[in-house]
Amino acid sequence: MSPRRILRPLIALAAPLGAALLFGTTGIFSAANAQTPQPKAPDTIEARVQGCTACHGSHGQGTANDYFPRLAGKPAEYLYNQLMNFRDGRRKYPPMNYLVTYLSDEYLHEIATYFSQQRPPYPPPAKPNVGDSVLARGEAIVLHGDAARQVPACVACHGGKLTGMEPAIPGLVGLHSDYMSAQIGAWRSGSRHAKAPDCMHEIATRLTDDDVNAVAAWLSTQTAPQNPVPAAAGSLKTPLACGSEPQ
Ligand code: HEC
Ligand code: HEC
Repeated sequence: MSPRRILRPLIALAAPLGAALLFGTTGIFSAANAQTPQPKAPDTIEARVQGCTACHGSHGQGTANDYFPRLAGKPAEYLYNQLMNFRDGRRKYPPMNYLVTYLSDEYLHEIATYFSQQRPPYPPPAKPNVGDSVLARGEAIVLHGDAARQVPACVACHGGKLTGMEPAIPGLVGLHSDYMSAQIGAWRSGSRHAKAPDCMHEIATRLTDDDVNAVAAWLSTQTAPQNPVPAAAGSLKTPLACGSEPQ
């Protein structure tokens, strides 16, 4: 990713943030500022998320050929947990950590809810860039797990349609294979954490490098279902406890 592609959206978000800090009504500059009215941008949720859509797409659909993940349609509490994780350092990606540093819990919740309700179309499934045996291995793990290594089927939690489950398990369709293998790698290396017990850390450490590539490759070739909504809360009995899910 070129620095330019990171910087442009960052500047777009930093400008209103900077203005808010300098000219906020409770700020130390407010008295001096009172005489010169500042033009006020409309404070709609669409305006608030403008700095996000540069990377995540105009409706949070992600970017088809790139690393920027889809947000649209993922359960709101999942997205909210991730924004908190970036803010509090449990996930690391400097532009994301920076962007959410000064945002309140309520503001992050509002943004998460907004993206969870967006329904832009899914990208066409990726053309496989691995051989058939690798895809078959990926498919077997996603649908059935690997009993020998105590890997549960991914669909046991992410749902038979791979659209996740309310309130906090994300869908795995419409994501780039590089993004998914990087996330599983981050859980293995300890640079991505979820609330304890961190079930994805458990699962990620039971997979080999080849398994990670295989599941990410197969998942990225899957077509989104007709009605891509997350499964209802409690409709799947998760085989491991996940701290991010309400117990
Ligand atoms: C510079 C590009 C960029 C901008 C701007 C940006 N993001 Fe991100 N975002 C990313 C990348 C890349 C990731 C994945 C990082 C990783 O590897 O963990 C990410 C991850 C996320 C995730 C986690 C997604 C998931 O499925 O786990 C959420 C939620 C998110 N961003 C929301 C936002 C919001 C809200 C904004 C605006 C306040 C925003 N992003 C602005 C690039 C960006
Ligand atoms: C026991 C339930 C469970 C099982 C089984 C499970 N997952 Fe997850 N997965 C989760 C939860 C919960 C999260 C969200 C964690 C968080 O809040 O960060 C998640 C998140 C993910 C993410 C991050 C998605 C994103 O948008 O960043 C990926 C990728 C993922 N899982 C892949 C897999 C794969 C591949 C398998 C099968 C090998 C699997 N999961 C099996 C519960 C599970």
